[in-house]
Amino acid sequence: MRSAESMLPALTQAFASHFHRSHPAIFQAPGRVNLIGEHTDYNDGFVLPCAINFYTWVLAAPRDDQKIQVLALDYQQHDEFDLPFSAAHPDIHPASDTTTSPIAHHPHYSWANYVRGVANSLLQQGYPLRGCDIAISGNVPKGAGLSSSASLEVALGLAFSSLSGFPLSGSDNAKNGQQAENQFVGCHCGIMDQLISALGQQGNALLIDTRSLACTPVKIPESLSVLIINSNVQRGLVDSAYNERRQQCEQAAIKLGIKALRDISSGELQQQQHRLSPLEFKRARHVVSENARTELAATALQQSDLALLSRLMAESQQSMQQDFDITVPAIDTLVQLVHQVIGIQGGVRMTGGGFGGCVVALLPTELVADVCAVVEREYPKHTGLQADFFICEPSQGALQLHPAR
Ligand code: GLA
Repeated sequence: MRSAESMLPALTQAFASHFHRSHPAIFQAPGRVNLIGEHTDYNDGFVLPCAINFYTWVLAAPRDDQKIQVLALDYQQHDEFDLPFSAAHPDIHPASDTTTSPIAHHPHYSWANYVRGVANSLLQQGYPLRGCDIAISGNVPKGAGLSSSASLEVALGLAFSSLSGFPLSGSDNAKNGQQAENQFVGCHCGIMDQLISALGQQGNALLIDTRSLACTPVKIPESLSVLIINSNVQRGLVDSAYNERRQQCEQAAIKLGIKALRDISSGELQQQQHRLSPLEFKRARHVVSENARTELAATALQQSDLALLSRLMAESQQSMQQDFDITVPAIDTLVQLVHQVIGIQGGVRMTGGGFGGCVVALLPTELVADVCAVVEREYPKHTGLQADFFICEPSQGALQLHPAR
């Protein structure tokens, strides 16, 4: 994994040679891993993520005109667009293969729409934006479910607010990123990823009430490691399957006559089962039980009750597999392999939106080497795939690195 020490100088140099200017401001925003509380955020429920020490960096300097020019170093691509003259009617259009010019061939163009979307959402809310030159790079694994896109949105929000000279709170920055993703990119995600990227606290996970956006820090004991294992399963049609789950949950809430699935207990849900289709009932049961597990898990972590945490994470995995149908066989295998090594000394489950991506384990540091050895040996035998391992530090949320604030 490339480190900040090697990536920032390369990005600074790329900024200078691409834009023929130097001394940009530097912003960073982290990716995240969710310990528990999956697909609960768009149901007004609870989540327990931590920010991780993998980042997106945005270098930016203001221009005298209304142009935004962007270099995406990791894709070797450039995009540029004009800010509309009337902020009341922002009309930034989505990027396409023709608007994004490849510096070298690369099949991904979607990054440009995160930049355009973040700018567009800020304008829609009446924030005044200045033109600027922007260079982007990052080491959050892309497409792995560790929120590289949310970290990009949050880093950009910070850059635009700082360069244009308007204040933007962490939660407003997160909401703006979510709006960009919902309206511009077309993924109807909740608020978790952007919020933890903006507000993460070093050494802590945050228990987030996604209805009130209240965040409670939950210290991760120093004896534990946060181990992320990428299944390297190719994820396909993730956004459409994700949006479909969201729709099913919203439909269930409507039929139950409640604002969101957050508003029903598991006992009430059982009583009201006849109102839902069997599929809607399963989806709702996942959300309602996952909310309860998440609040309990925060307490278990606070009290270093690893046996309880282990059980709750195992139940979460089962619920994601059987009720929410978002795991895949390779992920289930990975979780089993890790569970066999750590038993009740730690927890393991799939993390993020699902359909592939990563597994997260919270475990005593002395077990990490054993887990990695077993997964390295057994996972390819079962799946034909190799896993990647990331040992993460629970990290600070988005920051302006330079000039220091
Ligand atoms: C994705 C979304 C989040 C959340 C998770 C599932 O990461 O962006 O809002 O819904 O999936 O918990």
